[in-house]
Amino acid sequence: MRLILLGPPGAGKGTQAQRLTEKLGIPQVSTGDMLRAAVAAGTALGREAKAYMDQGALVPDGVVIGIIRERLAAPDCRRGYILDGFPRTAAQAEALGKTVEDLGTPLTAVLSLTVDPDEVVRRLSGRRTCGTCGAAYHVENAPPRRAGVCDRCGGALVQREDDREETIRKRLSVYRDQTAPLVAYYRGGGLLREVDGRGEIDDIFTRICRLLGAEGRGRH
Ligand code: AP5
Repeated sequence: MRLILLGPPGAGKGTQAQRLTEKLGIPQVSTGDMLRAAVAAGTALGREAKAYMDQGALVPDGVVIGIIRERLAAPDCRRGYILDGFPRTAAQAEALGKTVEDLGTPLTAVLSLTVDPDEVVRRLSGRRTCGTCGAAYHVENAPPRRAGVCDRCGGALVQREDDREETIRKRLSVYRDQTAPLVAYYRGGGLLREVDGRGEIDDIFTRICRLLGAEGRGRH
C-alpha cells in the first residue's frame, strides 16, 4: 500500500503511522523525522531547516520535495510506504503525483485525520519523543513504562522545540492556510478517506484498518 496520512499537527499521524508500519511491514516516511535527523546531524540541510521549524513555518518546497523523491526511490519503498507529514502544500502534492507516476506506483489512499485545535494543544504540550529512535509518547495518554525512557530502545525522551503553545498555534495556522486545501484536492481525485481522529489510539487504529480492509492482515 502507498498511503498518505494527512492532518493537522497533533492529529496522530506519527502515532498511527508507527502502528501501520508494524502491521503492514512497510516503512513510515516522515519528512518531520528526516528534517529533525538532519538538524541533529548538523548538516547544511539541517541548518537551513531548523530556522523554519523552530518558528513553526514550513521548510521550502524545493528542499522537502528533493528529500522525498530520493526516499521513495529507495528499495524498501518498493512494497509500499506511509507518508507522514508530506505533502503539505499544493506544490508538494503536484510533485508527489509526478513522482509516483514516474515510478509507475499510484497512491492507494489518503487518510485525513480530524481533531479540534484545543485537543491538538493538549496532545502536543504533553508529547515526549525518543531522542534516539523518534518513537512518540504522551505524558498522560500514552506514557512509557518508565518515565523519561523509551520502551522501544531505552533512549531518553525529550520535548520537541516546536511543541510550545505559541509555536503550536502558529503551526495550526500554517496547516489551515497551506495544507488543509489538500483535503479537497485528494477528495477530487477520489483518494480521500476521512478518519475521526478523536478518542483512544487503539480505536482510531481499528477505524483505519477497517477503511483499508486490513483488519486481519499483517504482523499483528
Ligand atoms: P512534523 O514532524 O511533520 O510535525 P506535525 O505535522 O506538526 O505533526 P506532529 O508530529 O506534531 O503530529 P502528529 O500528527 O504526527 O501527532 P503524533 O502522532 O506525534 O513537522 C515538524 C516541522 O517540520 C513542520 O512544522 C515544518 O517546519 C517541517 N516539515 C515537516 N514536513 C514538512 C513538509 N512536508 N514541508 C515543509 N516543512 C515540513 O501525536 C502527538 C501527541 O499526541 C503524542 O504525544 C501522542 O502520543 C498523542 N496522541 C496521538 N494520538 C492520540 C489520541 N488519539 N489521543 C490522545 N493522545 C494522542
